[in-house]
Amino acid sequence: MSRRTNSAKWSPDSWRDKPIVQVPDYPDRKVLGEVEAQLASFPPLVFAGEARNLKRALAQVAAGDAFLLQGGDCAESFAEHGANNIRDFFRLFLQMAVVLTYAAASPVVKVGRIAGQFAKPRSAPTEKRGGVELPAYRGDIINGTEFTVEARTPDPRRQLEAYRQSAATLNLLRAFATGGYANLSNAHQWMLSFVKDSPQSKRYQELATHLTEALNFMRACGIDPEVHPEMRTTDFFTSHEALLLGYEQAFTRVDSTTGDWYCTSGHMLWIGDRTRQADHAHVEFCRGIKNPLGLKTGPTQKPDELLKLIDVLDPDNEPGRLTLICRMGADKAADHLPQLLRAVKREGRHVVWSCDPMHGNTVTSVTGYKTRPFDQILKEVRTFFQVHTAEGTYAGGVHLEMTGQNVTECTGGARAISEEDLNDRYHTVCDPRLNAEQSLDLAFLLADLLKSERQGKAKPLPAVAGL
Ligand code: PEP
Ligand code: CO
Repeated sequence: MSRRTNSAKWSPDSWRDKPIVQVPDYPDRKVLGEVEAQLASFPPLVFAGEARNLKRALAQVAAGDAFLLQGGDCAESFAEHGANNIRDFFRLFLQMAVVLTYAAASPVVKVGRIAGQFAKPRSAPTEKRGGVELPAYRGDIINGTEFTVEARTPDPRRQLEAYRQSAATLNLLRAFATGGYANLSNAHQWMLSFVKDSPQSKRYQELATHLTEALNFMRACGIDPEVHPEMRTTDFFTSHEALLLGYEQAFTRVDSTTGDWYCTSGHMLWIGDRTRQADHAHVEFCRGIKNPLGLKTGPTQKPDELLKLIDVLDPDNEPGRLTLICRMGADKAADHLPQLLRAVKREGRHVVWSCDPMHGNTVTSVTGYKTRPFDQILKEVRTFFQVHTAEGTYAGGVHLEMTGQNVTECTGGARAISEEDLNDRYHTVCDPRLNAEQSLDLAFLLADLLKSERQGKAKPLPAVAGL
């Protein structure tokens, strides 16, 4: 098969000559230029070697030997930046990873939507309230949520604060990941207090007890976790949507060890479902950086367009380079996925297939909240696994919007959050997130699905109808 590679010259600013959507209208271009110049002089947030490590880990996922767990806030918020939120998120993430590693016996590649997930694509450029029309909220890196002219006017200086917060968040995550907090011997202590008396908690504590026994057994055999860094520390990577390209360009630097360009604002960047046009700016920017990339793939994605995008973004068919993050919606996945899976398989492409069961399942509650029914989220995940089993491909990961906080944003789950309950603790500045209990619940479901997938026992497709 011929490869339609893009041989045109790439540079960190070549995206500026392409058509672009989802750009904020900055009234003060001079300040914007000054901020971008300042950002370009700041230290990188991540090192290219780390991005290469993530790519290697994702290559294992592409080969069916590991599982990708990617998740975090829809949009990080300046106001909620703080140690407790980061710690609670990280604990929950570790718990989910332990469930998947231990219950499914699968290595887990851990990637947070964090330390840079500040820019949001919107379905409309403006928002109207009571006859007043203002620019839509586009994420804290661009403007504020408050419905006033001051808050909604895009302000480039917010990019400096986004950088500062990303650096501080990343610093704490690195400390947790390598400083002892992530030690597997602490698995019992990662439990969040408000989850303690839930059924998920019981199941998790049982698993942690087994894990402790296994660690004690290993210690008795002379394998001391204290001297094995892989038991004391963990690899944790960061990711965000590459949406605000001026910011991303400022962090795009040549890696001195390889001479390649890397975007150093995060380890992995993804292209959103609204900005994945093959000849547009976002794809142009991403094709030139060597980071692992994600590509959101929604129900409007046609197989030939997807193949074209793969050619542009991954011309060398490099395992770990490209993760296709499918966000079809629970009721569309069984119809839309097979043709994409077949096309990619036919072309012999080594991609990671990941399931985002969040973005295709957003509804408005009768009480006026943007929400997601937990049942639909589970249904999309199950369908994703079933379709992969039927097509002989590997369901390699999930992409979640989740928080370690006790929020009420998605309906359903073990505590049966109702549409009326949403009002209690609805804190997201953008899309509804799974709370800690719902996330753990999903992790146990994933562990079961992964176990079946590994044993080649997942049920064939017709069962989808009866989910
Ligand atoms: C998101 O991940 O928050 C998002 C906006 O997703 P999508 O591009 O898939 O709609
Ligand atoms: Co979102």
